[in-house]
Amino acid sequence: QEDRLKDIIGHAKEYGFVFPSSEIYDGLSATYDYGQLGAELKNNIKTYWWKSMVQMHENIVGLDAAIFMHPDTWKASGHVDAFNDPLIDNKDSKKRYRADVLIEDHIEKIRQKINKDVAKGLKRFGDDFNEAEFRATNPNVLRRETEIKGIEDRMRDGLVNEDLAAIKQLIVDLEIACVVSGSKNWTDVKQFNLMFSTELGSVSGESAKIYLRPETAQGIFVNFLNVQKSGGMKIPFGIAQIGKAFRNEIVARQFIFRMREFEQMEMQFFVRPGEEMKWYEHWKAYRMNWHKALGFEDNAYRFHDHIKLAHYANAAADIEFDYPMGFKELEGIHSRTDFDLKQHETHSGKKLRYFDPEINESYIPYVVETSVGLDRMFLSVLTQALKTEKLADGSERVLMALPAALAPYKVAILPLTKKDGLPEVAREIMAELQLDFNCQYNEKDTIGKRYRKADAIGTPFCVTVDHQTLEDKTVTIRDRDTMQQDRVAITELFQIIDAKVNM
Ligand code: GAP
Repeated sequence: QEDRLKDIIGHAKEYGFVFPSSEIYDGLSATYDYGQLGAELKNNIKTYWWKSMVQMHENIVGLDAAIFMHPDTWKASGHVDAFNDPLIDNKDSKKRYRADVLIEDHIEKIRQKINKDVAKGLKRFGDDFNEAEFRATNPNVLRRETEIKGIEDRMRDGLVNEDLAAIKQLIVDLEIACVVSGSKNWTDVKQFNLMFSTELGSVSGESAKIYLRPETAQGIFVNFLNVQKSGGMKIPFGIAQIGKAFRNEIVARQFIFRMREFEQMEMQFFVRPGEEMKWYEHWKAYRMNWHKALGFEDNAYRFHDHIKLAHYANAAADIEFDYPMGFKELEGIHSRTDFDLKQHETHSGKKLRYFDPEINESYIPYVVETSVGLDRMFLSVLTQALKTEKLADGSERVLMALPAALAPYKVAILPLTKKDGLPEVAREIMAELQLDFNCQYNEKDTIGKRYRKADAIGTPFCVTVDHQTLEDKTVTIRDRDTMQQDRVAITELFQIIDAKVNM
């Protein structure tokens, strides 16, 4: 599994998807730069999200709020007081860990043992094997499930009651050993606020402490009435936003999975009080389907109900993805009640109510939120798309099987040789297609090597201009996944490519 993540990181760097940030200065920990292809893939993911959430919903509109917000925002939202991670240090290795992450990793190990038991059963009983029945009746599996439940209950109690001593006791009882030294010698658990702060010079010469936003959601809440009034929005309606967020994560690790500067794609859906559970279920299902519509393996995604509800939520679930390091949170769906708007009313002294003409009542709407990390989405796409394939002739090819809509380049345009006027014709084709599709022109190397390069970066089509093109205005078009080549008229190219890219 570690090797798999290493392969992805190596490939991402080699082909210009993701670079360690400030690499010439030996990098800055847990900070990454998106390269020439990464920037394209990221933009395509944003467009895919925006189209489905905003363009396809009459009652959802977009927003682009500032990263800096009035400092009172974060008092109102609870982030100043409650946005803390429980941390624990290992005395021998002098390494710091998030206490809840340590416990969750321990639970994951037990889950892996269960999966091993199930796999053994599968081997023994073959086709007659009923996995669900086995899980529900096998004593080993049941014992381990009970163990997990016990740990989760204790962790939830500790986190919800902010009983740091109880959380430490749990870590001690589980005999969690420090990953590096095997040591079980822990300090007490402490709370650590995750927000980055900076100074903003004010007109009077005094400076004020302000924060870099730890989530994009608050920009939406403070603009709720601006958007509702200027857009004539009627409840239920949503506001969507894509933007950077910052968290001073102590344990930033696993490539772009957990970073200190990252990007979120969030949507807050404002509903009538009492209707939030209906919408919560709606958005849970909608978002899961959105992920699955990318065409990757269905079983790479699963729901996970939160053990610890955030300070603002009355129901919350994650959509988890099967990353190289196991199932981890990709997206959160939260029923945030009227917590945020109510808090902003109190702290700002401004009314944030909606008059509902259908029931002739004015109220503070309830909010259901969907929040997906763009970088985690990016990593999930690389995880599923990148593969090594054995070919019929015994050789191997590296393939990035990206959905065409997400691919950085849609077409590679390749003159078979650099002579005989082939590059000129290729350039003409490029000029025709380039307005609608991101195209890459390449005349270096053998044609075989150029096909391999296109496969490795996920380009769905290669168009090759050869000598026959000069005679009859046809080219070959090669499909990345099947490697099949068809000869088609140049005039047919647009339609063939468009059909796949704009599915
Ligand atoms: N507005 C709600 C909110 O921010 P969250 O569960 O804390 O909820 C939402 O974050 C999503 O943001 C997560 O599901 C994850 O995809 C992404 N995310 C959170 N912290 C991150 C980090 N340090 N690095 C990368 N992505 C992160």
